[in-house]
Amino acid sequence: MDYLHITGGAKLQGEINISGAKNAALPLLSATLLSNRPVQIDNLPNVADVKTLAKLLEHLGAVVSWLTPHQAQIDANHIIHTKAIYDIVRKMRASILVLGPLLARCGHCEVSLPGGCAIGARPVDLHILAMEKMGAEIHIEGGYIVAKAPKGLQGTQIVFDKITVTGCENVIMAAALAKGRTQIINAAREPEVVQLCEVLQNAGVEIQGVGTSVLEIIGTDREPLQIPTFSVIPDRIEAGTYLCAGAITNSHIRLTNANPTHLEAVLEKLRQIGFRLESNRDSIELFPATKRESFEIITTEHPGFPTDMQAQFMSLATQCNGTSVIQERLFENRFMHASELQRLGANITLKGNIATIVGSESSQLVGADVMATDLRASSALVLAGLVAQGSTNVHRIYHLDRGYENLEQKLTALGAQIERKSE
Ligand code: UD1
Repeated sequence: MDYLHITGGAKLQGEINISGAKNAALPLLSATLLSNRPVQIDNLPNVADVKTLAKLLEHLGAVVSWLTPHQAQIDANHIIHTKAIYDIVRKMRASILVLGPLLARCGHCEVSLPGGCAIGARPVDLHILAMEKMGAEIHIEGGYIVAKAPKGLQGTQIVFDKITVTGCENVIMAAALAKGRTQIINAAREPEVVQLCEVLQNAGVEIQGVGTSVLEIIGTDREPLQIPTFSVIPDRIEAGTYLCAGAITNSHIRLTNANPTHLEAVLEKLRQIGFRLESNRDSIELFPATKRESFEIITTEHPGFPTDMQAQFMSLATQCNGTSVIQERLFENRFMHASELQRLGANITLKGNIATIVGSESSQLVGADVMATDLRASSALVLAGLVAQGSTNVHRIYHLDRGYENLEQKLTALGAQIERKSE
């Protein structure tokens, strides 16, 4: 198994190119199931989760041709299976994203229940309720969601009592081929949801309210879509993670192919801490701070502070003067990185969903062996390793490989001392 060996203390400097967004790529790849013509997708991130979803599409019968490592053509004309098997779904919860499109296109499907995951129970009840509201008959059998809608799905009003990103994306995709108008109340407003809507609009689907919490979608009544070539939006979480790498080492770095409008809450937090930032349409530059102040974060849905940036800011808090407080509101068990950061000497106290971090610019973390527990927790440990005295080994980095493309090459290019090794 691979691990990352990091020698802390290096200042970073230079430019880093942000990859396509994993969380946009996954629903967009699933949306190709709505089409019976080849769809070309550009700027796909070369990460394990994208490969897993491509494998799932192939398993269903789609032909996936990689034109380059970042560009694929998917032809889902012949769907030969409608079962998303446990073996693939257990590797990636987001496989649930094929539920809506498969059901809408084929009138039936079986999707393995994703089960628990490191950051909490993460149920899919809202996905199932929404499909039932659209006319599907669903039961659970042998660990699978067995869904049938032989006459197709019917447009209706879906009221989400909780905002769910992939749940909303599933309904949007199902609604695109449903009969009549679907209204989604309390829809997710994440940039990845917006891009899914825009791609479907370009395929001729009428969607109103894009980017707001009320969406209206007019379905094609099972007429497959023709989706024009498109390019995946930049990964805002990867961008935020590298900004934190610059911030924790108090360095001057510049991100290219990054969209600052997708990151406003994160940029604002970095400003509050003391960093100067300059943004253009597709670049963000971070300048060192003269003093780094402690901060407070409450994670929430977009456009609020993203839960996917919480772990990285916890590492950063160890290097800010005073007491920082982080409240995690979306996932009940998303502080697993805290005990690993404590192994590096971080002063962190947990109480329920609130973490209190006492940090200082002069406080020195000390390198140790640490274990990654989930995708974003892994990147938080890498960030801490960049400033810890001596060597830090981050184990179980397969979590990291799920969502960060060439992380060690990108950090090395900025001057970090980091290498991938095998146990
Ligand atoms: C997506 C992102 C993930 C991010 C999360 C929150 C993808 C592939 N993943 O995950 O990186 O951390 O949004 O921004 O885009 N919930 C239910 N029932 C459901 C669905 C969700 O109770 O049926 C709860 C969840 O347990 C959680 C909250 O709703 O507490 C939000 O989860 P959700 O937005 O669905 O997360 P994902 O879409 O899985």
